[in-house]
Amino acid sequence: MTSPRAIKGMNDVLPDEIGRWQLIERTYARTMSLHGFREVRTPCVEATPLFVRTMGEATDVVEKEMYSFTHHDEALSLRPEGTAGAARAYIEHAVHAREPVTRWWYAGPMFRAERPQRGRYRQFAQLGAEVFGDEGPGCDAEMISMLFGFLTEIGVPGLEVFVNTIGAAETRIRYRQALLDYLTPKAAGLSADSQRRLASNPLRILDSKDERDKEATRDAPTLHDFLDAGDRGHFATLRTYLDALGTPYTVDARLVRGLDYYTRTLFEIKGAPERLGAGSTIVGGGRYDGMVAELGGPPVAAIGFAAGLERLLIATDASPAGQVIDALVAPLGPDAMGPGLALARELRALGIRCEIDTRGSSIKSQLRRGNALGARVVLILGESELSDDSVQVKDLEARTEERMARGQALRIVADRLMAASRTVDSQGPGFRKATP
Ligand code: HAM
Repeated sequence: MTSPRAIKGMNDVLPDEIGRWQLIERTYARTMSLHGFREVRTPCVEATPLFVRTMGEATDVVEKEMYSFTHHDEALSLRPEGTAGAARAYIEHAVHAREPVTRWWYAGPMFRAERPQRGRYRQFAQLGAEVFGDEGPGCDAEMISMLFGFLTEIGVPGLEVFVNTIGAAETRIRYRQALLDYLTPKAAGLSADSQRRLASNPLRILDSKDERDKEATRDAPTLHDFLDAGDRGHFATLRTYLDALGTPYTVDARLVRGLDYYTRTLFEIKGAPERLGAGSTIVGGGRYDGMVAELGGPPVAAIGFAAGLERLLIATDASPAGQVIDALVAPLGPDAMGPGLALARELRALGIRCEIDTRGSSIKSQLRRGNALGARVVLILGESELSDDSVQVKDLEARTEERMARGQALRIVADRLMAASRTVDSQGPGFRKATP
């Protein structure tokens, strides 16, 4: 029998890589907390109609990429994104009745049956956020600027922010018709995908990478010609705030994004083109002022974004200091095991990451393990140490070795590790910066 393998496009993250994931997650959680966001966790499975109603029937995700199934006559889907579930939870728990403005962030797995390639997977993790109850352009500008700061902090090179506005839903209906009138006579020259989209979702044709579609849409009317005064004002103000914050951006009038729920502001951030490929988006987001009401909630404006965590990992070298433990307790012989276990427990109570070799290995092999795990000190308990309640403290970094009383050893080791910021509590969100 062949041995089992993971499903195509779904990846294991082994402990050697997890430090980088946790580092980015930690930095993200800290950024969000600094901006007044609180974490929300919604289920990985939702009723299929929730996604169809919000993301839109004629979008790639809903048409081709959802993992949907029926269970006891209920149509369910693995979530392809987090916005619909967050809006559902916001309405279901009547959060608007308690809070005028709600700021939520989330991190977790999403599922899309896409063709797997570098940076594109079938299970991937998003770091996302949604704000409900703030329709002002200051909210949009702060979000974009916050993301720019976060991506800079984790060391993503070559950042480019693209912003656009697609106006309110009515604007898009009028524009859609104008685009249809313009493209219908050119239909035969479009790619097969775009010919299909002409009937279902013509705005997506503007997003196409196919040269035939680019050619056909080169002189198409732009959505900006159809915007009303409110849309224009919102976008102009957003731009002044981004300027005031010193966040660089480019207006991309062709940016439409692939989901139907958006209104007004859209944005995407690209980066690390040498690693991800020039077209690869790290963060996508925008306003969706109509969604909450459409789902049966109050008329509450909303805006949000999501970043692909795997793409961030490809885009940056940021990695945590590579130590798994701070101290190794090395008992020599069976009599030392009991006192060794107690010593390890005392070290951990001081916030010191500690492992004890419980296999009864030789001192040589224990020291090798201490080195491999990045321990700074090894506390050796042999027969003579047991006889007078002392410990041999071997400092692998300072290359010193001292025998001292057990109580003194605990104090000295804790002080030394604290000074080197090497206790669990002193580690915080810091990380080793990428080498330039
Ligand atoms: P999205 O553009 O579909 O937006 O996805 C956001 C990000 O998730 C992408 O920029 C990319 O980094 C990552 N991503 C998407 N698909 C994959 C994949 N198959 N493999 C790896 N990474 C992927 C949304 O999901 C919206 N919910 C964002 C939003 C929140 N808009 C408003 N609020």
